[in-house]
Amino acid sequence: QDAPPHPGQAVFAQCRACHQVGPTARNGVGPQLNGLFGRTAGSVAGYNYSPAYKTPEVTAKVWSEENFAAYIRDPRTVTPGTRMVFAGLRNDDQIKNLIGYLALFNPD
Ligand code: HEM
Repeated sequence: QDAPPHPGQAVFAQCRACHQVGPTARNGVGPQLNGLFGRTAGSVAGYNYSPAYKTPEVTAKVWSEENFAAYIRDPRTVTPGTRMVFAGLRNDDQIKNLIGYLALFNPD
C-alpha cells in the first residue's frame, strides 16, 4: 500500500504553477526548490532572478525554516519588488506542513 501523502503536499499545490521539486525538478516561472533549506537566496543556476533578488540584503540570506516561514507569510513585504506574485500564507499549520514537505527535498 502506498504511504499517505505528506500534509504539506496539498499546500504546495499553491506553489506548483511556478515551482517544482523532486528528481525531475526544473526552473519554471520560479526557481526549482530542491535543497532549499541551507541554500543561499537567489542562487539557483540558470534561473533569471528579478533585481529584487539581487540586492545585498537578499543575497546575504541563507534559507532556513525560520526565514522561509517569514517570507512565505508575506513575500512582497519581506522582499519588496519580487516577481513572485503570491499573496502569502497566513495559517501557521499550513506553513509548518509546507516546511516539512519542502524539507523532504533536502538531501541529508
Ligand atoms: C521565488 C517559494 C509560490 C513565483 C521563490 C523563492 C522561494 C519560493 C523560497 C526564493 C527562491 C530562491 O531564493 O532561490 C514559494 C512557495 C510558494 C510559492 C513555497 C507557495 C506557497 C509562487 C507562485 C509563483 C511564484 C504561485 C508564481 C505566480 C516565484 C518567482 C520567484 C520565486 C517568479 C523568483 C522571484 C524574483 O526573482 O523576484 N518562491 N513560492 N512563487 N517564486 Fe515562489
